[in-house]
Amino acid sequence: SESGAVRHFLDIRDLDAVTLRQILDVGAGIKGMQRGRARPLHPAKPLEGRALGILLSRPSTRTRVSFEVGVRQLGGDAVVLSSSDTQIGRGESIQDTARVLSRFVDAIVLRTGRTASLRDLARWSSVPVINGLTPQSHPVQILADIMTFEEHRGPIRGRTLAWVGDGNNVASSLIEAAARFDFTLRLATPPQLPPNKEVVAWARANGAKLLLTHDPREAVAGADCILTDTWVSMSDEAAAERIILLEPYRVDRALMACAARDALFMHCLPAHIGEEVTEEVFEGPQSVVFDEAENRLHAQKGLLVWALGGEDWTRFGKEP
Ligand code: CP
Ligand code: NVA
Repeated sequence: SESGAVRHFLDIRDLDAVTLRQILDVGAGIKGMQRGRARPLHPAKPLEGRALGILLSRPSTRTRVSFEVGVRQLGGDAVVLSSSDTQIGRGESIQDTARVLSRFVDAIVLRTGRTASLRDLARWSSVPVINGLTPQSHPVQILADIMTFEEHRGPIRGRTLAWVGDGNNVASSLIEAAARFDFTLRLATPPQLPPNKEVVAWARANGAKLLLTHDPREAVAGADCILTDTWVSMSDEAAAERIILLEPYRVDRALMACAARDALFMHCLPAHIGEEVTEEVFEGPQSVVFDEAENRLHAQKGLLVWALGGEDWTRFGKEP
């Protein structure tokens, strides 16, 4: 990564395939052990004495709660700050904020509407910085999505996923994951809302099998999973026009019927029922959206242990 030894997680591409897989394995191991195994974790509180700063300049339900609860369950502590409650709200620089927070906490999660703020924070922080969503990407979401797919359908390698809707931040992280986890990804977006070109070029250069189309049926034909997201992300202002463009990209029963018979439906949430997905699909038997939300907690525990657990971090989540 850019800053040498500090274990930042700004994007999926920052980590190699082996490390990403280990993170998911540790997260899944901890999840499995919590669920009724007789033997305790090794050690039970891997993040004892550690503190996580969670800095939010945009609203959040899942990201905030999953990081806060996750670090506490691992024995650590969390401080949640909204930017407006900090001196950032009165103009203190990210550069100084990074250097100060680094003296108090052991890692920082940032959700920001300014992608450059994440880069600045990572550049000036001496502790790991984790991307909790920017307008450009949402990598922690995709860790949970991979975990969820694999729990339901086994290894994702060689499978086919379809993204339908806005070529947004979540789509970008999924595209990077296609390279790292070696699955085929087909994306159907309106011509005016395509996936990030640089991300697509990076992924293709790194072996991702991508199909870009404007036809939702072409994207989902025979796919093992259909994913979508809100038509109006937090960083998007021109809502009315987007909704007209995205109207043909609603995931409904007819579109699900074009995918594999047992295809999963995933959505990072929050959902807007009747816009990007019908109630029938969202509430239907193929939808795993709440497993997906839960897995934010488990996948991020793997990530926190990677970031803070020391050189020997992969032993966590295994039997003593
Ligand atoms: N999916 C997700 O990141 O949700 P929040 O905005 O609630 O954190
Ligand atoms: N694409 C959405 C994801 C929310 C978790 C947004 O950026 O608002």
